[in-house]
Amino acid sequence: MKKDVYILGIESSCDETSCSIVRNGTDDISTVILSQIDIHTLYGGVVPEIASRNHIKDITVVIEQCLKKANINMDMIDAVSVTYGPGLIGSLLVGLEACKSMAFIFNKPLIAVHHIAGHIYANQIGNKMQFPLMCLVVSGGHTDLVYMKDHGSYEVVGSTLDDAVGECYDKVARVMGIGYPGGPIVDKLAKEGALTYELPIPKNDDSLDFSFSGLKSAVINLVHNEKQRAHEIRREDLCASFQNVVVYSLASKTIKAMEKYNVKNLILAGGVAANSGLREKLTDLCKQHGFNFSYPDIKYCTDNATMIAACAYQLFLKKQFSSLTLEAVSSEKLK
Ligand code: KG4
Ligand code: ZN
Repeated sequence: MKKDVYILGIESSCDETSCSIVRNGTDDISTVILSQIDIHTLYGGVVPEIASRNHIKDITVVIEQCLKKANINMDMIDAVSVTYGPGLIGSLLVGLEACKSMAFIFNKPLIAVHHIAGHIYANQIGNKMQFPLMCLVVSGGHTDLVYMKDHGSYEVVGSTLDDAVGECYDKVARVMGIGYPGGPIVDKLAKEGALTYELPIPKNDDSLDFSFSGLKSAVINLVHNEKQRAHEIRREDLCASFQNVVVYSLASKTIKAMEKYNVKNLILAGGVAANSGLREKLTDLCKQHGFNFSYPDIKYCTDNATMIAACAYQLFLKKQFSSLTLEAVSSEKLK
């Protein structure tokens, strides 16, 4: 009988400190996430220096709790894995150094995981990805259409030319003064509103690229103009109108990409994959086109170490290990 493979994962690229143990790349045995959202909310966004200080405070706590929860000791772990980038460099370094120390002390193979590859592999938790597939990656830092022929093969076929969609959600929420992070709040208010505000559809063309900075500016201008005229903004309606345009743009380009690349399987990845409007719209469109559509459980959409360990399993099978000289990188293309 094939031996089970246990991989420990660490994620600290932004404002979540997380450790997880995943069996055979699909089973979440134990996951611990300490979020710093409450701290950064005070500033309306992530403050890098504060983020890295809190990772240092939390990293050993999450590792210890994760092992305890799994009731596993390090002897049973086959490899340790970590996000090496992209992300905030000071934050990445904390997880990376912790993971390298574990690899050294316990003599385990070290696996380096690209953060976006990790988000994609959130789809493999409790599930199996079917190839070839198209993945719409939508997070705070990325908006990409990624074509995958097989495990570990990534071809970015479309991308944002400016802001990422999550960043746009967060800025729109900020100008409306409704809190941080903006995505889940806008999503919730959008369900209670009507499509009354007219906003431009970004990059409404045949390309597979996106653009969100013009839409962001349009919302900011609209809010300022209404304020100057002493008109009250109907928040629910503005959220609904904004989300409608975002979802239209993401969904129409995604379907275009699937047709162009003759792909029948669609998956979602990244924090914005939690968006209810996007999930509903793509569910409808995929049904119409006869495409298979699946997405990660909401708890695996935003940053977590489960997706890192799930992704690392594929690298473990190919014996793609890193040396202890592995460095953190703030930006790196998915390849
Ligand atoms: O993937 P993630 O946790 O971090 C990055 O790697 O960037 O994504 C965070 C982003 C934030 O911009 C947040 O506002 C957005 O995901 N987000 C959402 C929703 N939940 C989180 N955006 C829209 N709708 C949601 N329900
Ligand atoms: Zn992320």
